[in-house]
Amino acid sequence: MSEVVHYGRQGRVAVISIDSPPVNALGQAVRQGLLDLIARAQGDDEVDAVVLTGKGKAFSAGADIREFGKPALPPSLPDVINAIEASGKPVIAAINGVALGGGLELALGCHYRVAGPFASLGLPEVKLGLIPGAGGTVRLPRLAGARAAIDIITAGDPLKAEAAEAAGIVDRIAEGDVVAAALQVLEEGVTGRRTRDLAVDAKAETFAEARAAIAKRSRGLVSPLACVDAIEGAATLPFDEALAKERSLFLSCLASPQRAGLVHAFFAPREAAKVPGIGPDVKPRKVETVGVIGAGTMGGGIAMCFANADIPVTLLEMKAEALERGLATIRANYEATRAKGRMTAEEIETRMALIRPSLDYADLAGADLVIEAAFESMAVKHDIFGTLDLVCKPGAVLATNTSTLSIDEIAAATGRPQDVVGMHFFSPANVMKLLENVRGKATAPDVQATVMEVARRIGKVGVMVGVCYGFVGNRILHARNREAIALVNEGASPQQVDKALTDFGFAMGPFATSDLAGLDVGWRIREERRKANDPEVDAPNWLDTLAEKGRFGQKTRAGIYRYEAGSRAPIPDAETDALIAAYRAAQGIAPRAVDETEIVERCMFMMVNEGARILEEGIAARASDIDVVWLNGYGFPAFRGGPMFWGQQHGLDRVLAGIDAFHARLGTKPWQAAPLLRRLVAEGRGF
Ligand code: 3HC
Repeated sequence: MSEVVHYGRQGRVAVISIDSPPVNALGQAVRQGLLDLIARAQGDDEVDAVVLTGKGKAFSAGADIREFGKPALPPSLPDVINAIEASGKPVIAAINGVALGGGLELALGCHYRVAGPFASLGLPEVKLGLIPGAGGTVRLPRLAGARAAIDIITAGDPLKAEAAEAAGIVDRIAEGDVVAAALQVLEEGVTGRRTRDLAVDAKAETFAEARAAIAKRSRGLVSPLACVDAIEGAATLPFDEALAKERSLFLSCLASPQRAGLVHAFFAPREAAKVPGIGPDVKPRKVETVGVIGAGTMGGGIAMCFANADIPVTLLEMKAEALERGLATIRANYEATRAKGRMTAEEIETRMALIRPSLDYADLAGADLVIEAAFESMAVKHDIFGTLDLVCKPGAVLATNTSTLSIDEIAAATGRPQDVVGMHFFSPANVMKLLENVRGKATAPDVQATVMEVARRIGKVGVMVGVCYGFVGNRILHARNREAIALVNEGASPQQVDKALTDFGFAMGPFATSDLAGLDVGWRIREERRKANDPEVDAPNWLDTLAEKGRFGQKTRAGIYRYEAGSRAPIPDAETDALIAAYRAAQGIAPRAVDETEIVERCMFMMVNEGARILEEGIAARASDIDVVWLNGYGFPAFRGGPMFWGQQHGLDRVLAGIDAFHARLGTKPWQAAPLLRRLVAEGRGF
């Protein structure tokens, strides 16, 4: 008897259930258990049919991802599924919850599929740099047709039970208990059929069209095209040959660095949720009502995050006009979602009703959590936190959305620094996944647990970091952008730098991103710091000149690039080139040719080096937390796993040698290698 797969009997039906918490992944023990128990059912004279199901919330989440990269142990999943399909007694899948990847493939090998109304089914392998490797590309097209199979497999998004039924993947939706419904199917005399015996409905041109569409959107990802190759195999080859082709494509994806990066990107946020020092014994504080201070772009977006999660939020402003404007923007954002068909008018009203406008701090007296999203100045923050200290109830969590200022200094404005914490949202706050939570010296453990829990409730990826200028994300961004600017100063063009980094896989290059964020933001911060004689701030350069000329980026239709009305496509601009040329001349720089490799290495090595410093200072608890920040807040290509993972994959020794070479050539302080990096390389270790 297997411990992770159980065999039970209901009359003359064997009920085989996978019981391997938390998600019934198909590790070696489960595969062996399934194979043994299917064989047992074949030989059991008192059994005429089999129902296959999962215990708990999942049918099965698929292959055990933790086994990837390790030697494969028999039996293989395709062998298990083939044995199920070959069974002489009908096997009905009773899909009680998620059936993903190998989990769905298991169900596709059964002869009939009944799904619970809340089941979700999909083949998400492409998101892990893989293709379905246990018959998914060969069986799904037989049920849903090649066109639909391509869409489902190359997008990797799960379908709800009803959509899966409409696509032909599920035969019946259960009204009550899914195992009872499967038994009912058998009672009706239905025995199903083998998926392998069905023909694939496919048009020859479908594959060429799919490849063209994928080439446009997949930015260097290998697995989506491999999915199409495998599905084409299903349409053109005999069943067993198509399975063999799928297996070979699967194994080559499994061995790829992209798969390693994407699997890292899958586990890293789950790891980040476990904050060192905050064990399961630390209970988060209750958060039922929230206050947000500031109805600007950030404050409004933050308020939407809570309304979207059904959490009532008081939105506080100092002036009625600003409040009205903020509310109008929120409504307009919701209307834009409705225009795309993703929201109804009633839903808008429900969410707007959850946002209570206020001009009076006293309205925050009962809030469990208050998030300040006001102007980025320590004096302003001190005023606000001093007031919050007076009006908020004891135990309320007092958070700031600051992206640069010290949480410890802000906390000092209150008599309860243990309740003060950073919650750094990314713009647009209602869209971006990342929530960089920042703990100060005094932040209480249960306050830390609270903001991590809040991140989860509002659908964000939370990462806990420590206090330093720019925290993790912006600190590395500044280091990377400084290098991008230096490359332009030396002779590259902004578009050349952007292209090198988008070819690397970034969603946008640094200069196009600066235009989107607004050049005025950084310029004003630099000006403030220069006025304060901050020795760390960079000397004025051509970017400051652009901002001085009112070229703030996309919002003024001119920044580093120019923009046609109504378009976000950056167009290189001669005026910018002239400003850069003038800057170089004034600095006595003779421009030189800069190649793509140098651009990527200088930007990436700088990120790894700054990340290593951040780790060494204890600002981030783990290298993978830094990766989570960049993957979810800055459009870092997921298939590269994040900057730290990339550095490791590239070879930390190569990264260090590159850093030393750039230091020898450029001599600047940021190019001094982080001691941690040097130590790890000397010891032959990774982060
Ligand atoms: N293998 C191993 N561990 C898995 C896993 C898997 N397939 N899926 C989830 N887990 C682990 C998570 O790491 C997490 O572990 P932790 O508690 O130690 O951090 C735990 O299970 C719970 O997962 P979540 O926190 O993600 O729980 P949720 O309830 O939010 O989500 C889920 C559940 C929807 C199943 C989600 O975990 C998920 O999407 N999992 C991945 C599914 C997937 O990609 N399957 C395809 C695998 S590849 C494959 O099958 C190849 C085949 O074609 C041969």
